[in-house]
Amino acid sequence: MGDAVLSQFTQAFETEKKQSSRRVKVGLVGCGWIAESHIECYKQMDDVDLVAAADLIPGKAEEFMRRYGVEGVRFYPDHKAMIDAEDLDVVDVCTYNTQHAAPTIYALDHGMNVLLEKPFTVTLDEAVAVCRAEKRSGKLLSIGFQPRCDINMQLIKKIVESGALGKVYYIQTGGGRRRGIPNSTFIEKETGGIGALGDIGCYSLDMVLNAVGYPKPLTVSGYKSAYFGTNPLYQYPDKFHTAEENAARFSVDDFAAGFIRLEGDIILDFRISWAMHLDTPGDTVILGTKAALRIPSTDCWNGTVGGQMTLYHDLAGVQMEEKIPILKNSGEGLFYKKIRSFLDAVLEGGSAPVPSSQILYNQAIIDGICKSAELGKEIEINIPEI
Ligand SMILES: NC(=O)c1ccc[n+]([C@@H]2O[C@H](COP(=O)([O-])OP(=O)(O)OC[C@H]3O[C@@H](n4cnc5c(N)ncnc54)[C@H](O)[C@@H]3O)[C@@H](O)[C@H]2O)c1
Repeated sequence: MGDAVLSQFTQAFETEKKQSSRRVKVGLVGCGWIAESHIECYKQMDDVDLVAAADLIPGKAEEFMRRYGVEGVRFYPDHKAMIDAEDLDVVDVCTYNTQHAAPTIYALDHGMNVLLEKPFTVTLDEAVAVCRAEKRSGKLLSIGFQPRCDINMQLIKKIVESGALGKVYYIQTGGGRRRGIPNSTFIEKETGGIGALGDIGCYSLDMVLNAVGYPKPLTVSGYKSAYFGTNPLYQYPDKFHTAEENAARFSVDDFAAGFIRLEGDIILDFRISWAMHLDTPGDTVILGTKAALRIPSTDCWNGTVGGQMTLYHDLAGVQMEEKIPILKNSGEGLFYKKIRSFLDAVLEGGSAPVPSSQILYNQAIIDGICKSAELGKEIEINIPEI
């Protein structure tokens, strides 16, 4: 990935304060949990008209807008009905994972720009189909990785790009929770599609792949398991289900790992967990020929590096350890920045803050881990031309 493309992120996120004199018409698909964070941001933006909303569950979109005091919204039973009826600038896709590709493709094919929540999709085939729809539409698509807007996360990339690490040859990343299986639509194959791997794994992958310029993944040896999610001992009750019922519903991964070869002779060693008998599967480390960086970001999905990063290097033959100060984010929160940077790109003809061309590689790794785990052996990752 060239510098010109990568530097667009910095520019995009720096435009966060600007609000255009034009107005942007937004339609929301999926009025569940994460849509709450989106609507709270839209309500702070003077140039946004939230004109339409869709949800498969009858009455859910209406109740959602009532709860947030947003008036004048037209309601639809699904994404197709909304997109067919509306002339929107932006479709904001906040559906569960298995419903990421279809609404995104439909919106792009109808000439609308799309902000899509993470993970990109469930499978690589879906991600390829979305990228092709984006290409033929000429519209903007950005994937919702709000940690990209965190100044300390951005610093990781700047450190790598500064050359301080030398040639990067090995990366260990991932993270997870000792206990932290979500419930709701996350735990079923039909809705979540993938578990910890897609929910939080995509963030750990993005943190390091973005830092090193998103090299193409070549091969992967993957593993996934579900020992905790399927056991009522480690499950939680929710409004609609007992712990036993949630254990029976559980049909995705709660732990996954992968050993990935990346273009440029870089090894990526990755593991992610929703539940395990350990507090953390380890810090992120980036090993280079001149220095190494340790990032204690085992829960990087919350948008932080998790504590002070450490740079290890030699100085005049002396082994040094330098603590990197934690920088303070300015302005609005990360969700606001992720949405605002996308809207600014739409309004001003800019580039996608988090482009699909990068996240395609993230998805290829996730997909490769699933396929390799099913086959029980290392596989090649083949990414079709877009
Ligand atoms: N960026 C973040 O920090 C973050 C945090 C949590 C969740 N997420 C992502 O957001 C997405 C949604 O998560 P959630 O917790 O809000 O799920 P949810 O199940 O609470 O809400 C999803 C809603 O989408 C609706 N829906 C599904 N398909 C639809 C369609 N075709 N048309 C209209 N409505 C449709 C469902 O009925 C449901 O109400 C997931 O992909 C998740 O990974 C992102």
